[in-house]
Amino acid sequence: MILSSLLHVVFLFAPALLKQTTVGDSSAPAYQIMNAFGRAATSLNGEWQTIVDPFDVGYFNYRMQPDPNGFFRNQKPGSSTERVEYDFDRSPLLRVPGDWNSQRADLLLYEGTIWYRRRFDYALPPNRRLFVQFGGANYEARVWLNGVELGVHEGGFTPFAFEITRLVRASGNDLIVKVDNRRRADAVPTQNFDWWNYGGLTRDVTLVEEPRAFVREYALQLDPHDERRARGWVHLDRSADTTRIPVTVRIPGTGQSQTVTPDASGRAKLSLDASRLSRWTPERPRLYDVEIIAGDDTIRDRIGFRTIAVRGSRILLNGRPIFLRGISIHEEAPYAARRAVSADDARVLLGWVKELGGNFARLAHYPHNEAMLRAADEMGVLIWAEIPVYWTIQWNNPATFANARRQLAEMIERDRNRASVVLWSVANETPRDSAPGGGPRLRFLRGLVDDARRLDSTRLITAALEHRYIDSTTIMIDDPLGVYLDVLGNNEYIGWYDGPIDKTDRIVWRSAFDKPLVMSEFGGDARQGLHGGANKIWTEEYQEALYQHQVAMLRRIPFLSGMSPWILKDFRSPRRPLPGIQDYFNRKGLVSERGERKKAFDVLRRFYAEVARAKN
Ligand code: GCU
Repeated sequence: MILSSLLHVVFLFAPALLKQTTVGDSSAPAYQIMNAFGRAATSLNGEWQTIVDPFDVGYFNYRMQPDPNGFFRNQKPGSSTERVEYDFDRSPLLRVPGDWNSQRADLLLYEGTIWYRRRFDYALPPNRRLFVQFGGANYEARVWLNGVELGVHEGGFTPFAFEITRLVRASGNDLIVKVDNRRRADAVPTQNFDWWNYGGLTRDVTLVEEPRAFVREYALQLDPHDERRARGWVHLDRSADTTRIPVTVRIPGTGQSQTVTPDASGRAKLSLDASRLSRWTPERPRLYDVEIIAGDDTIRDRIGFRTIAVRGSRILLNGRPIFLRGISIHEEAPYAARRAVSADDARVLLGWVKELGGNFARLAHYPHNEAMLRAADEMGVLIWAEIPVYWTIQWNNPATFANARRQLAEMIERDRNRASVVLWSVANETPRDSAPGGGPRLRFLRGLVDDARRLDSTRLITAALEHRYIDSTTIMIDDPLGVYLDVLGNNEYIGWYDGPIDKTDRIVWRSAFDKPLVMSEFGGDARQGLHGGANKIWTEEYQEALYQHQVAMLRRIPFLSGMSPWILKDFRSPRRPLPGIQDYFNRKGLVSERGERKKAFDVLRRFYAEVARAKN
């Protein structure tokens, strides 16, 4: 009896033990270091050697068993007769961060493994710790340093880090990453989605140096239930032998500060007087410098303070009703069909949102790079952030559910201090299940909603739902998932997939919930520069007329509190082959992939100007 209870105790705590930073242990799960840019960071961005490996010969032997002499060993022939069938030093280069598809014509459609190798020197001072952090890698990344496997991360759009304190050498370190972007039925997203499967080290790679005890993550937001307080917590990551050190959080701009002593787990709650903090708004996106000092570790961040809530069918920002004048955005660069990777890309894209008269952007369908969220904070654009639980996910697969939960947690962990983020979305257009109780799909999504609320009680939870017709002209929004959401998203394509443009004139919308509706998608394709009248599909005039009729319909929905039409910019998609019109681009953008405006851009801009005048 005693033995079994002891074992039980071990299994209870084993996961927590695993969460500790076990140096160089490949069983150590990936986690992230918040705000890497605000720390002593060394960028590993630049040109990496790469080996295209469609059959994974760098990882498996000819019996498909893991090969101990894989590419991660970075071997060289030891004699004139030794056979080594790869050589990173003589392999082609790819730019990091960046997708591989847009860097080489032969990789445009490539789905498989590409190996990356970066050599670096690092003289780590005594009593310091070193981590390697990836802003993201699509889709699965397995990482080695100097031949030792650090671990593996699944999910193409969230950060992950490994500690390399005991493995790093003063010179000649080989960091090797196996990135595999193959689509899988059990993955998140699954095999079918309407965007390009950009693979690779698509986000920044950074070495982060820390003292033995450092602030790994923190939260500081206005208390939604008591606006006089900014509340949160700090989590100290410390080697077992460091004493418990006090942590001071300061807002120099207002002189606020608080000193706390973390508990045995390294955590401590924060609560600062917020009465003198100006509220963050799209018009005045006030950010405060925040310093967190823990012994030898000081982190700086810029945080905005605002509240977001719902009351009936209204969304309240800082207690006042706001209409979300938005647009959806995929993570593609403004003037090129490639992953957006930089602050410059972010500022141009969000600049177009502002030119539309927008105050809101739906970052579809996955977490965008961190520069986009920080630009939204600075520029005053409210954000709908989303994980790629998209279309037909394997609802019954526990590993798929664990994957979705992990991606949601990693998104929230990274962006929980971004004032611009007001909505966490757990799904897009997932088919409702007619089974009693909603079936496995509803169980899966409710689990994600519960996680989001537990991880972050300061934001609203949503999802882009589908609707149903209850007669030829009445649309009902009554997806059972709506019961658990704060805000209802809904995608509709009247005038494109669903009837002619003037069908919008006859539609009545109803909702089964007294909750705000954000029309999270509507639109239609147009090839920029193609003209010919509103009765000719694919022309700018057709798209323009569609927007005019859509806007007229949306005005009539009393419970509408926002919209994010599909989509800001044309984007690459394998689902859109029509020669001369689509050429593997989804053309619903208001701007072409070369940044050229279409006529519908002005229809939306005029509508938002009118809404802004009416709401103020
Ligand atoms: C869907 C989906 C989008 C897709 C769009 C379209 O609503 O959410 O990802 O691109 O429709 O068909 O263009």
